[in-house]
Amino acid sequence: MTRSFEKVGVVGLGTMGAGIAEVFARAGLAVVGVEADPDALERGRGHLEASTGRAVAKGRLSEAEQAEILGRVTLTTSLEDLADADLVVEAIPEVMDFKRSLFTDLDRICKPSAVLATNTSSLSVTGIAATTTRPGQVVGMHFFNPAPIMKLVEVIHTVVTEDGLADEIAALARRLGKTPVSVGDRAGFVVNRLLLTYLNHAAVLLENGLATRDGIDAAMRLGVGLPMGPFALLDLIGLDTSYEVMCVLFQESRDRRHAPAPILRELVTAGLLGRKSGGGFYDGDEPASSRADGKPSVSSVAVLGEGADEFAARLADAGFKPGYADDADVVVALSHTPVIELAAQLPHPSRLVGLHLVGDKVAEVASTVLTSPDATRAVEGLVRIVGRTPVLCKDRAEFVVDALLYPYLNDAVRMYDSGYAGIEDIDAAMRLGCGYPAGPFEMLDALGLETVRDGLRALYAEYRDPAFAPAPLLDQLVTAGVRSIRDLP
Ligand SMILES: NC(=O)c1ccc[n+]([C@@H]2O[C@H](COP(=O)([O-])OP(=O)(O)OC[C@H]3O[C@@H](n4cnc5c(N)ncnc54)[C@H](O)[C@@H]3O)[C@@H](O)[C@H]2O)c1
Repeated sequence: MTRSFEKVGVVGLGTMGAGIAEVFARAGLAVVGVEADPDALERGRGHLEASTGRAVAKGRLSEAEQAEILGRVTLTTSLEDLADADLVVEAIPEVMDFKRSLFTDLDRICKPSAVLATNTSSLSVTGIAATTTRPGQVVGMHFFNPAPIMKLVEVIHTVVTEDGLADEIAALARRLGKTPVSVGDRAGFVVNRLLLTYLNHAAVLLENGLATRDGIDAAMRLGVGLPMGPFALLDLIGLDTSYEVMCVLFQESRDRRHAPAPILRELVTAGLLGRKSGGGFYDGDEPASSRADGKPSVSSVAVLGEGADEFAARLADAGFKPGYADDADVVVALSHTPVIELAAQLPHPSRLVGLHLVGDKVAEVASTVLTSPDATRAVEGLVRIVGRTPVLCKDRAEFVVDALLYPYLNDAVRMYDSGYAGIEDIDAAMRLGCGYPAGPFEMLDALGLETVRDGLRALYAEYRDPAFAPAPLLDQLVTAGVRSIRDLP
């Protein structure tokens, strides 16, 4: 049986629900929007009018079209008005008890053929479905914020979802102008599972003192081309929400990497929830922009390692004398980890600084336990002179960018290998759900499977976290000489 979805209910018209109601109305469907009480209903109406009003102001919608869209939406505080809806999408707060109680009511009120969907970000769709007498007709329809703009919808089916229903919901998402990605019911689905794990990892590295907040943010933004650094993004998502999602992920996986970073709990307890509370990782301040320091007070620089000639030539152009490792004022070791192994072989280990060039904008500046603050400052200045942003960090495996990026890519490979989601779906989810320039498998291909595998081995050797051990599939692909995971038969 192919269902027709013409009348849709949306319960909860807050941040997400109002946007979801707008999306359905824009696609020509009749929408019944339900709120908890008259005040909340007026706020919901305000969200709808403001959002469509902005589109009119930007010339993306005419006033007549706006009136038509708003005319398709009926607002009410009575769930009974959903009796003849073909589909109801729930967008009330992320609290299991609230959702279960609502679905019990919807199951009683809605016609037997109606499909019930939840917009939950992290809760078990199966657990919600189980409270109804129609678990086969309950799915997840996970929109992204802001719903009218973000193209991705994760469509979640459970083990008891009726055959074909997820496909019908995916077709509906396409009718709304969205790109659906179909997945099973695992905490966090694709986007939050991969994204929040990476953000949490960044918070752990910050706590460990690997680098500063601004350094890590700059490294990921300028070095990888992500739209925001992890701490700016955590503040935007909300630290309380992020903490809750991590708790749900951990509860399901018991994976140490999913355990929320203690700093998240501390900030949340202090009421520092991110942008919405006026403070979080950033206290209303902006990331410090790179300062144009004066010329470093060193005259001779020795450069060692891969790509040394090119870097030394740039420094020579800027007036620095090439030096030898035994007499130079500072010694720069390019891409040599751990840097300390080299330091132990030099006559002046305090002058040695590690350097890792990331893309064409960033250079990670790694100090060892023996490096003097003067040497670090000098290399920071040299990096600026060659036109890159320096990111100061400790001498740890893979420094900052790769230490964050490789485990995220590894997680994506494991996710694919577990049969949870396809390569194209995972790539599309991360591109469309996070605004990333490329999906994880596209990034893997660009970096090279072997480079990432070797980086993961180094991370595992350093931190001994099983999650950093290369996914067996990644290892096998490298051993087999396969260049791209897409080349698999
Ligand atoms: N905010 C996001 O970025 C985002 C993104 C994707 C998914 N989600 C998910 O969407 C859901 C809603 O999140 P939100 O950010 O829109 O929350 P919100 O707090 O902005 O809105 C929730 C709305 O539900 C209303 N409500 C509460 N109980 C109700 C009831 N019994 N009946 C009718 N209305 C009720 C509230 O009055 C409020 O307006 C959550 O499950 C959340 O995890 C949120």
